[in-house]
Amino acid sequence: MSSNQKLYEGKAKILYTTADPEILLTYFKDDATAFNAQKRGTIVGKGKINCTISSQLFKLLEAYDIPTHFIDCPAQDQMLVKRVKILPIEVIVRNIAAGSLCRQTGLAEGTIFKFPLVEYCYKNDSLQDPLLTRDRLLIMELATPEQLEHIRNLALKINDILKSFFDQCQITLVDFKIEFGLDANDNLILADEISPDSCRLWDQSQTEPNLRVMDKDRFRRDIGNVEAAYQQVLKRILTQVG
Ligand SMILES: Nc1ncnc2c1ncn2[C@@H]1O[C@H](COP(=O)(O)OP(=O)(O)OP(=O)(O)O)[C@@H](O)[C@H]1O
Ligand SMILES: [Mg+2]
Repeated sequence: MSSNQKLYEGKAKILYTTADPEILLTYFKDDATAFNAQKRGTIVGKGKINCTISSQLFKLLEAYDIPTHFIDCPAQDQMLVKRVKILPIEVIVRNIAAGSLCRQTGLAEGTIFKFPLVEYCYKNDSLQDPLLTRDRLLIMELATPEQLEHIRNLALKINDILKSFFDQCQITLVDFKIEFGLDANDNLILADEISPDSCRLWDQSQTEPNLRVMDKDRFRRDIGNVEAAYQQVLKRILTQVG
């Protein structure tokens, strides 16, 4: 395959081929979407911020032996990654109730859980990423039982690592969405991104529900100061990693 070919353009990133068929270049865009792309906009500087945050968090996770697709960050908005076959499952880990969970269950926003809640959604835009049960996921053959157990264990370990890291940044990790893929040797590895687009992050120095939001909910809920909040997350992460 020739290099520098656009392979796929998603809502937040563009994937390009490189000279190595097992390596892709991902370009992070400033485009923002919410509510299954019904709401669209731009967050100035988001591409660079999210790529840098993701790179730092992947490096952190690698240091704790979590296999990730991260290779290098050759420019602020570009990441070299191992090419994987993405499993069509959005893995969501929640520590505190927020968002769709509150709408679907009636749990009050801010309810702190006794244990992390791991959920799976079907990564399918035309079906609007519906919530899956374990048995649905297995019947649909989106993963094998062994892969699913591995995914769950990795997701919980990732949550432990990220939760304590963000705590050190005076940020509460409310919930996050991750994606896994299979590499050339069929090893399960963490892929995609981990950023304020894919996490709920609350500033521990703020108590007012709107003021504490440091993630894409600022865009979803038209709270304003989206760029500044994303910048603040980046700044605290960079300060913490030193
Ligand atoms: N290492 C990787 N190898 C192959 N594909 C990847 C890798 N990491 C992420 N992807 C895929 O890149 C695509 C582009 O990312 P982006 O976040 O823009 O997608 P999206 O629009 O949010 O979601 P999608 O297009 O999957 O509905 C996603 O489909 C994601 O699953
Ligand atoms: Mg995405």
